Amino acid sequence: MNIIVTGGAGFIGSNFIYFELDKHPEDRIICLDALTYCGNLATLDEAMKNPQFRFVKGDIADRETVFSLFEEEKPDIVVNFAAESHVDRSIDNPEIFLKTNIMGTQVLMDACRKYGITRYHQVSTDEVYGDLPLDRPDLFFTEDTPIHTSSPYSSSKAGADLLVLAYYRTYGLPVSITRCSNNYGPYHFPEKLIPLMISRALADEALPVYGKGENVRDWLYVKDHCSAIDLVMRKGQVGEVYNVGGHNEKTNLEVVETILQQLGKPESLITYVTDRPGHDMRYAIDPTKIHRELGWLPETKFEDGIKMTIQWYLDNKEWWQNILSGEYQNYFEKMYGERL
Ligand code: NAD
Ligand code: DAU
Repeated sequence: MNIIVTGGAGFIGSNFIYFELDKHPEDRIICLDALTYCGNLATLDEAMKNPQFRFVKGDIADRETVFSLFEEEKPDIVVNFAAESHVDRSIDNPEIFLKTNIMGTQVLMDACRKYGITRYHQVSTDEVYGDLPLDRPDLFFTEDTPIHTSSPYSSSKAGADLLVLAYYRTYGLPVSITRCSNNYGPYHFPEKLIPLMISRALADEALPVYGKGENVRDWLYVKDHCSAIDLVMRKGQVGEVYNVGGHNEKTNLEVVETILQQLGKPESLITYVTDRPGHDMRYAIDPTKIHRELGWLPETKFEDGIKMTIQWYLDNKEWWQNILSGEYQNYFEKMYGERL
């Protein structure tokens, strides 16, 4: 099969490409990525050596690029990871989120309609469900939880999801959607909580914790997300949404404290800063449907996954130090300059 993976030079997309090349060596993977600030070709160095892999630089919202790639490759499956993915950036500048996340999804599905595919898979997020209160640990997001977004990022992802389901109902496009909780693991861009805290703790720099650090996220090791997408795009029911998460709820403070303990760094590095506007309190996934229908279960416990992740950042300093030394410095100054 020919599989187009968009956004494959980013965090989850690159992990997915390595997962697929390893698990399904008979399939060809074509990565379409615009190499925005968070796309990194160095991440795909190993994949480039594999004859079953091809990289194409291009924007999913650019109709001409997308249609000519489909014309050339005639993909069987399209998996869309390409997105603007950082909530804080969406608060600062929503426009590009609407363009990439909604319009880009539309262009990809229009190409799927024209050229014919067996599956269009949309990689979505639990953030489309909004948040849950901290004092109701009995509540979880199911696939029937109403869409109720908080940020421009989550609204753009929800808009894309609705469009995907509309293309299924209106045009009969064979689609599926996964809505996953927070991922962590190798190649995570250091603007996100876990890699940000690891890289700053290693440099003995202040760790900016928003508000009181009591917000809860449901952490999933990235490889477990990849195995869920692989199952859904090949065996999941067309037109269906599947929630993906591993019951690994942690407060942000618990996560940061774990990182400090693992690295042998003092808790005095923790610095409470002004909260994110509209900050979601708690995410928690009920993964019953994907387990019941497809037998999916996460394999990595948070306690093990966080150790593997920290070790990866220790072993791959060049990868993230290259990022920190570039344009990222302006971003950090703009986002945190007055808060720290
Ligand atoms: P990321 O920001 O690390 O990577 C995004 C990738 O998309 C980059 O390689 C970037 O260059 C590429 N890209 C951006 N705009 C593009 C465009 N217009 N055309 C082509 N490529 C473009 O993101 P991530 O964390 O790997 O997230 C991947 C997907 O998974 C996103 O759709 C996100 O909404 C979703 N998701 C992420 C998480 C998480 O915890 N990170 C959880 C659930 C769902
Ligand atoms: O739930 C899935 C979502 O998880 C994905 O859809 C998003 O693409 C992904 O970025 C992630 O969103 P979050 O906003 O939850 O992730 P982030 O790493 O930005 O923040 C995690 C938590 O840590 C959140 O409560 C905000 C907090 N935080 C984050 C940063 C960057 C801090 O306290 N300090 C920080 O400096």
